[in-house]
Amino acid sequence: MITRRDVNVGILASATSAAAQTSTIGRDMKPLNLPPPRAEGGQPLTAALKLRRSTREYSDRPLSAQMLSDLLWAAFGINRPSGDRTAPYWRHVMVIDVYAVMADGVWLYEPKAHTLLLHLNADLRAQTGLQDFVATAPLNLVYVAHGERMTDVSAEDRRLYASVDAAFIGQNVYLYCASEGLGSVFRGAVDYPKLGRALQLPEPQFVTFAQTVGYPRA
Ligand SMILES: Cc1cc2nc3c(=O)[nH]c(=O)nc-3n(C[C@H](O)[C@H](O)[C@H](O)COP(=O)(O)O)c2cc1C
Repeated sequence: MITRRDVNVGILASATSAAAQTSTIGRDMKPLNLPPPRAEGGQPLTAALKLRRSTREYSDRPLSAQMLSDLLWAAFGINRPSGDRTAPYWRHVMVIDVYAVMADGVWLYEPKAHTLLLHLNADLRAQTGLQDFVATAPLNLVYVAHGERMTDVSAEDRRLYASVDAAFIGQNVYLYCASEGLGSVFRGAVDYPKLGRALQLPEPQFVTFAQTVGYPRA
C-alpha cells in the first residue's frame, strides 16, 4: 500500500528529475523506427484471457524492439486500410496519444508510420505513478487525451470518454502481455498535474491513465 510518506518521496524525486530533463519539443524529433509488427503469433484469445492479471513486481530486463513494436501495435496500432485502430474510440475522433516512457526518454507513438518520436530526452519513469515499481520497470505507457478535440461535451464527459478510450487500449495491452509472458498493470495512482507538467503537455491535453509493462520478477 502507498503511504503518505511514499507519495511525498515520489513527488520530491519527480520534481528533481523534472528540473533536469531536456525538452525536444519544437526541435527535430528523431524517430525510433520500430520493426514491422508481427502479423501472426501469440496465444489463442481464451488462453490469454485465462492468463490476464495485474503485475506489480518487475525485473529490469528491457523489452526487445520487436516486442515493443508488437505491443504498441496491439495497444492502438492501425489494423485496417481506413487507418482505424485495434481499439475502439469515441465518435471516431482520435483523442488518445500513447506515450512510451522508458529509461532512454519519453516517446510518442505515431501509428501511421508505426514509429516512436522522441518527446523528451530524460528518464521520467518515476514520475508516471505513485508506486515504486514504475521507476524501474522498463516501460510505462501514458495515455494522454486531447481535450480540445472533444468539442460540445462537458469537461466531465471529456474525462469519461477519454478514460473509456484509454481503458480499451489498456485491455489490449493486458491481453498482449498475457499472451507473451509479460506483466502489466493499468494505473490510476498517478499525480496527474505533476505528470502533465513533467510531460510538458499543453493545457487542453491531460493524462487519463498509465500502464506499466515489463517481465515479471522471477
Ligand atoms: C481504472 C483502474 C485503475 C487502476 N489503478 C491501479 C493503480 O493505480 N495501481 C495498481 O497497482 N493497480 C491499479 N489497477 C489494477 C487493479 O487494482 C486490478 O485490476 C484489480 O485489483 C484486479 O486485479 P487483476 O487485474 O489482477 O485481475 C487499476 C485498475 C483499473 C481498472
